[in-house]
Amino acid sequence: MKQEQYQFTYESYSGIEELQPDDADLLRQARIMTGNAYAPYSQFQVGAVARLINGAIVAGTNQENASYPVGICAERVLLGNAATLHPGISIHTIAISYNNLEGESDHPISPCGMCRQAMLEYETRTSSPIRIILSGQEGEVYIVKTVENLLPFAFNSNELS
Ligand code: THU
Repeated sequence: MKQEQYQFTYESYSGIEELQPDDADLLRQARIMTGNAYAPYSQFQVGAVARLINGAIVAGTNQENASYPVGICAERVLLGNAATLHPGISIHTIAISYNNLEGESDHPISPCGMCRQAMLEYETRTSSPIRIILSGQEGEVYIVKTVENLLPFAFNSNELS
């Protein structure tokens, strides 16, 4: 038996003011974009804004439904928008923020498992890593270099053939 280890490195900033201008701009947009979420059931609004490698900006917000499982996360709305409006164009960076109408929004939250899987497929299909910026409406900011880091032992299409 061998003990194996999985590790990854991410950047941690004390606030938006420490970021490079492009990253700060994207995070600012994600924070504002939370206002476009439709989250009457959870009161948890998520905004995701991407910069593509051609400079285009694409956004997504969570869209809930009275039939709860029908709701979709901001990240997957964003991916659908990006693939539809800019087919084949890689995503350089996604900034994800949230607004918790029943609590604080002062620390980074991380994408759910389903969104990690969806973002990983986007990386694979465009052969390009996606940087992820995570932060609430205020406070600390994390930057992860690639979605691969967030989903160790991922299931992917190689297993299907
Ligand atoms: N949500 C997202 O949009 N992204 C995530 O990564 C986590 C959760 C949404 C789904 C639901 O509308 C609300 O946040 C509460 O789970």
